[in-house]
Amino acid sequence: MTQAMLEVKGIDVFYGASQILFGVDLTVEKGQTMALLGRNGAGKSTTFKAIAGIAPPRRGEINLAGVTVSGRKPYRIARAGIGYVPEDRQVFPEHSIEDNLVIGTKKGPNGEDYWTLERVYEAFPILAGMRHRMAGRLSGGEQQMLTIARTLMGNPEILLLDEPSEGLAPIIVQAIGDLIRRLRDMGATILLAEQNMHFCLGIATHATVVDKGQIVYRDTIEGLRANDAIKQRYLAI
Ligand SMILES: Nc1ncnc2c1ncn2[C@@H]1O[C@H](COP(=O)(O)OP(=O)(O)O)[C@@H](O)[C@H]1O
Ligand SMILES: [Mg+2]
Repeated sequence: MTQAMLEVKGIDVFYGASQILFGVDLTVEKGQTMALLGRNGAGKSTTFKAIAGIAPPRRGEINLAGVTVSGRKPYRIARAGIGYVPEDRQVFPEHSIEDNLVIGTKKGPNGEDYWTLERVYEAFPILAGMRHRMAGRLSGGEQQMLTIARTLMGNPEILLLDEPSEGLAPIIVQAIGDLIRRLRDMGATILLAEQNMHFCLGIATHATVVDKGQIVYRDTIEGLRANDAIKQRYLAI
């Protein structure tokens, strides 16, 4: 039997008195690239914040490789192997690309140390070429790459990418897509939140659709591609 890498089981999440997620279930198996799709305001970022421990669920649980991590502090969840790249792409602007990467360095939860500066520069040649440039001077797309690269430096078991294509020029979106595809082909386990279904079609292996804080559909990406009813009902296309 395959062991789920990430299991979100029946989580309810509130911001103050308002309930945002209603019994959300989501499973990502090792090696899958799971797209979490849904319109603006559907609950994608809240799901990610719940997993990362920033918006802890009031009900339900979250397991990483069979171990319950919900209820832990965000830094402990990160240390357990969840590499969360939030949508706001924060870098340390006054520091070089290389310093930003070094800050992210840690071994994985089982001592994994695959991702080194050298391997990250190999995977992100664009960053290698400007390693001494201040991060604050990078374009939005370059900052997006840097935050993904910095998260990889922590050797996570699963990478959570929240709308990495949002607000970027088409050519940069394509570059980010190529990068995620390469990570997928290396065997990485990825959860990718997106409004942009077209971006996910050539990248994800599986899809889960969230709407108004509830999971409404799950299938392979081919299944979603062929399902016009779901696409029309829940995704702005
Ligand atoms: N800090 C917050 N306080 C109150 N409501 C919020 C907060 N953040 C998001 N929401 C609401 O939660 C819902 C889900 O938002 P979000 O998870 O960001 O959706 P998505 O990422 O799918 O666009 C939206 O209705 C949004 O307005
Ligand atoms: Mg969002």
